Amino acid sequence: MFPIIRPRRLRRHPKIRDLVRETTLSPNDFILPLFIRHGENEVVPIASMPGHNQLTIDRLPEEIKEIESLGIPAVILFGIPEHKDAVGSDAYSKVGIIQQAVKAIKEISPELLVITDVCFCEFTDHGHCGIVNEDTGIMDVDNDATLEILQKEAISHAQAGADMIAPSGMMDGMIEALRSALDETGFEHIPIMSYAAKYNSAFYGPFRDAAESSPQFGNRATYQMDPANGNEALREVELDVLEGADILMVKPALSYLDIIRRVKEAHPELPLAAYNVSGEFSMVKAAAANGWIDEQRTALEMLTSMKRAGADIIITYFAKEAARWLRD
Ligand code: PBG
Repeated sequence: MFPIIRPRRLRRHPKIRDLVRETTLSPNDFILPLFIRHGENEVVPIASMPGHNQLTIDRLPEEIKEIESLGIPAVILFGIPEHKDAVGSDAYSKVGIIQQAVKAIKEISPELLVITDVCFCEFTDHGHCGIVNEDTGIMDVDNDATLEILQKEAISHAQAGADMIAPSGMMDGMIEALRSALDETGFEHIPIMSYAAKYNSAFYGPFRDAAESSPQFGNRATYQMDPANGNEALREVELDVLEGADILMVKPALSYLDIIRRVKEAHPELPLAAYNVSGEFSMVKAAAANGWIDEQRTALEMLTSMKRAGADIIITYFAKEAARWLRD
């Protein structure tokens, strides 16, 4: 009695498809991670992340110019220190690798946003995200001792000129500790992007090569979240909201699109970032190198799915390539 309902009418003409498209990507959505190392005139390729390198500070100018010319608004920095120790002291040194890199980038380009990852795993000799001891009866990261050095680290990043800090260590009370440390030192204007729901994920593998940050014993299961848990993410997020996070993040992204959606629905009032992590990038690169998958279409589809799920911002190793694909 009724005519067939035909959704295909809106798919027949490319201009109609353009008109009804619900999700669009723009280079403005992207934050590009950079790996910075000590030394002179070195560009050390990261084997598991084709196209990405550890760069020395003197090699930043051309990189930064390229990022800007592609319309990417922000970078997030990871550092490989010269010396690692038990408390990650390079992480809060005035002349630490990150502090030097922030200064250098702000000199090259005052406009590009510089975000710093606030964590210790790249800086400790044991590779854990804070101070480790056996005070609770097992060898574990000491939450409250770590909060104190996280405060020092965040302040030193702000003093170096960082525009935003992004704590990724999953310590309890981290956002409140960092907010009050920044406020007390005259950095009440610096926003905090919290890795609010960060999972204990195998997808970080290539990053740990890139940043030389694998734990030397055990794993991160006592501080990062169990991949099996979704409801718990809402608790983590709620705490960070109450503690004053300005931007929330879900990490990884691709296997956690449900979490991105739930966090967005729980907190539509806050911007949400998704971290399209190293393993998600490397899988596409490896399959594409074998001719098994169309790299451009796959990567753009992944990035689109993260926005469709509810992310406003995407931290991605595809930022430069995706910006080029979107432009051409
Ligand atoms: C911790 C940190 C990690 C990543 C970003 N910040 C690694 C970890 O938790 O082991 C991973 C990012 C990626 O895989 O791309 N400082």
